[in-house]
Amino acid sequence: MTLEDFNDVVDAEETADDAAGDAGYTAPAGGNAADADAADTARAAGDPSATTESNGFERFAVEPSGEDVGIGTLSVSQGLRVSEDGDETTLRAFVTTGNRDSVRLGSYLLVPYPDDETLFCRIVGLEYAQEFHADDATEIHARRMMRQSSFEERDYKFMAALEPVAVLYEDDANGERELKRRMTDRVPKPGAVLQEATDSREIKTGLNIPEEGVFLGHLSVGGEKVRTAATPPTIDYRIADDYDSGDPLVFRHTLVAGGTGSGKTHASKNILRQYLRDERTYPMDDGRRVQPAVVQFDPQDEYAQMHDDNPELDGDFARQLDREDIAYGGIDDTIALIPTEAGTSYAGEGHRAERIGFTIPFSMTKRRPWLVAGSSLNENQYSALDTLLRRFFRQYGAKGTYERFLTFLDDPALKEELNESGRVHEATFDAVTRRVRAIPSGVFDQSATPITELDHQLVRPGGLTVIPTYHLSSSRVKELFVLAVATYLIDDKLSNTPDSDRIKETPVVLGMDEAHNFLADADTVQARKVISKFTEAAKQGRKERLGLFLITQDPQDIADSVFKQLNTKLVLNLGDDDAISSVNIPPNLQSKVPYMEKGQFVVYSPDNSEPVELIGLSTCLTRHGS
Ligand SMILES: Nc1ncnc2c1ncn2[C@@H]1O[C@H](COP(=O)(O)OP(=O)(O)OP(=O)(O)O)[C@@H](O)[C@H]1O
Ligand SMILES: [Mg+2]
Repeated sequence: MTLEDFNDVVDAEETADDAAGDAGYTAPAGGNAADADAADTARAAGDPSATTESNGFERFAVEPSGEDVGIGTLSVSQGLRVSEDGDETTLRAFVTTGNRDSVRLGSYLLVPYPDDETLFCRIVGLEYAQEFHADDATEIHARRMMRQSSFEERDYKFMAALEPVAVLYEDDANGERELKRRMTDRVPKPGAVLQEATDSREIKTGLNIPEEGVFLGHLSVGGEKVRTAATPPTIDYRIADDYDSGDPLVFRHTLVAGGTGSGKTHASKNILRQYLRDERTYPMDDGRRVQPAVVQFDPQDEYAQMHDDNPELDGDFARQLDREDIAYGGIDDTIALIPTEAGTSYAGEGHRAERIGFTIPFSMTKRRPWLVAGSSLNENQYSALDTLLRRFFRQYGAKGTYERFLTFLDDPALKEELNESGRVHEATFDAVTRRVRAIPSGVFDQSATPITELDHQLVRPGGLTVIPTYHLSSSRVKELFVLAVATYLIDDKLSNTPDSDRIKETPVVLGMDEAHNFLADADTVQARKVISKFTEAAKQGRKERLGLFLITQDPQDIADSVFKQLNTKLVLNLGDDDAISSVNIPPNLQSKVPYMEKGQFVVYSPDNSEPVELIGLSTCLTRHGS
């Protein structure tokens, strides 16, 4: 760099700043003075183009009006390098005084290359550095500060550390100019002028956000929506939902994690609502396009409300949603499938959805002995249970009820026979009988339609089925119902000889609130069977069009093998350190999680986009709450 470089720069003062701020630059002592003088002269002459602040620095407009405005320039003083190894990348920018208060960590910036390409980057560090070698830890300095309670911006350099995200370039494919992105493979020029990214197309391309897909929320930085010059000024974040680039991400599974009251259910309703819009269909193996069914397990009796419109959603907001192509309003085709347990009743006052009671036929245990195993059978006892159930169902067929099974186990002749043939030891037989007797009565074979005969109610293309469990008597009973229905659905989805063609041939989003209660890792037969079933379901999900949508406040409790299959993670406010680290998201997102306000969340979906921060819609798209 030589002094001549500055000659054709109009803004002499800015240049002087930059040059002086550049520690690597050794100009002759007189050089700076000359430039500064020139600036002073310009001002003294009443240069009308220079809007001068009281501190003598020029202020640059930073309104996101889409004009070409800069916030600073790339500096080479501490190195200017892009590297394959992110740790060795050094991109630092000098931020001019007028812009210092408005730049924020996480903001997106554009740095032009001399040709048409642009480097899209993110601010990852902000610092004041010394402009002059002076000691500000002195009596005089401190006293001065204490008296005037401000300081001279010009005494300091304000530096922003940048992380390159991608190179943006125009491509002339098919006669149309298309903005594309590629990995950062070139270094921008020293002195390049930084601009805030305020163009929706550039930001979406830079962050690799799909144009189309399922709406999750609006892009934000530090809790503020990113604004552009366009209408609407916000940037919609969507999750890819077609087969153009891989599989729809819904079938690669979603996690919604957040502490109590962080807005999980509100956000989940808004997302599930999008899956239930008429236009959304997925191709099946036979070539038909079919709308997905949403089946939602509902521990707090909140989701059947999705049947109804949100009375707080007004006309203005509705028009905004229309403009942004976001589906809203109650889902007429909602059924609440009510678990029937003797001695309990479902009040379900908060909604007007249709209700159908169902029961779990004991015959379901034939293929799923773990349903009656409770939590503490060892392998030996479990295989004894299996033997007993097989024998029982051979004898009674589909008429084999829980009551009958208890009578069956009471037969001393059976116990003796199995003991003598060496198939089930007496003590094992007794242990199993005790466990089977201990399962809550009033669950199996109640006076309601068996769930196995309700497959057309359970799964309906374009319909929402909610299974409330709040009214049930104990967590064990809730677990029994949830796991029985979920595995019935999963088994049919994965089977080559399904009991229900309806289930097999409909795309299904299986939503589970408080998922940690059902999918926790534990050293029991039941947990092992359940976890391996859900892991299998998750792995086969893409092929079978089965998407898991798990909602939890304790993500650390969800079994690892299931967790690993969850591709898209939405993390709302979480306070617990274990919970935060368990969601396994990039550190820059992780550090934001404890500060998220209601409805704010980060999205980590590596096959969809760069990691981002979002603000969800503040109004629920269907009814939520009283
Ligand atoms: N984005 C948002 N904007 C404004 N209010 C919101 C937002 N999200 C949620 N809320 C409100 O905050 C409250 C709690 O939200 P929600 O029920 O979704 O939380 P949750 O995480 O599911 O809580 P819980 O742990 O009790 O299940 C509700 O009254 C809801 O309407
Ligand atoms: Mg909730």
